Amino acid sequence: MSDGTFDDAFVGDLDRLLRWRRDVRRFRREPLEPHVLPEILEAAELAPSVGNSQPWRWVEVRSGAGRQAVRDSFTRCNTDALRGYAGERARLYSSLKLAGLDDAPVQLAAFCEPDPGQGHGLGRQTAPETLEYSVVTAVSTLWLAARARGVGVGWVSILEPAEVTAALDVPSTWKLVAYLCIGYPARETDTPELERAGWQFRTSAEERLFVR
Ligand SMILES: Cc1cc2nc3c(=O)[nH]c(=O)nc-3n(C[C@H](O)[C@H](O)[C@H](O)COP(=O)(O)O)c2cc1C
Repeated sequence: MSDGTFDDAFVGDLDRLLRWRRDVRRFRREPLEPHVLPEILEAAELAPSVGNSQPWRWVEVRSGAGRQAVRDSFTRCNTDALRGYAGERARLYSSLKLAGLDDAPVQLAAFCEPDPGQGHGLGRQTAPETLEYSVVTAVSTLWLAARARGVGVGWVSILEPAEVTAALDVPSTWKLVAYLCIGYPARETDTPELERAGWQFRTSAEERLFVR
């Protein structure tokens, strides 16, 4: 609604969006409709940020060299991660698909600018990490805006941030917060991939609420 109030139908739709959001690793290879990326980046600008600093810096990774460097970093890190598991967990880990780097038409790195003039330092003097939290809120907003448009997002953290930062030729002071694969999902599901694979199920909210 245009006045900033939302009816029950919208709330129901929003809950459905949250339930069906998904971290996507299996993409159709077709390119995104050209309007999608600008729209979801614009939506991300509506995210909250400490001091209204908007410290997120996006890098759309189009170059073959950039993508290959990220792919190589993922392969190395994933191999190392596998070594940390044994037995049945190791077998399960090696069966997981943990990135859509080969198929996603769009790859987007989200960095944090650690010294944005914008915001004048408000809110982060005792908690400078709130700048990075702000980037996460932008990623989360982009994720939902994408899903609402039928577009999937997958967050790849199995990377060496220094390698990605160097490969993308950004200021070395920028901190990598997220590396995102974006495209049309190969399938829709309301169940996380890690649940379907038997790796980790969601647990209930009451386990995480503490009252003092
Ligand atoms: C900070 C962060 C890092 C993540 N890194 C990875 C990753 O490297 N590879 C992957 O397959 N999924 C990654 N995920 C996705 C989670 O596995 C996923 O969100 C979780 O299993 C719940 O599934 P859902 O997002 O589909 O609800 C990441 C998610 C977050 C929030």
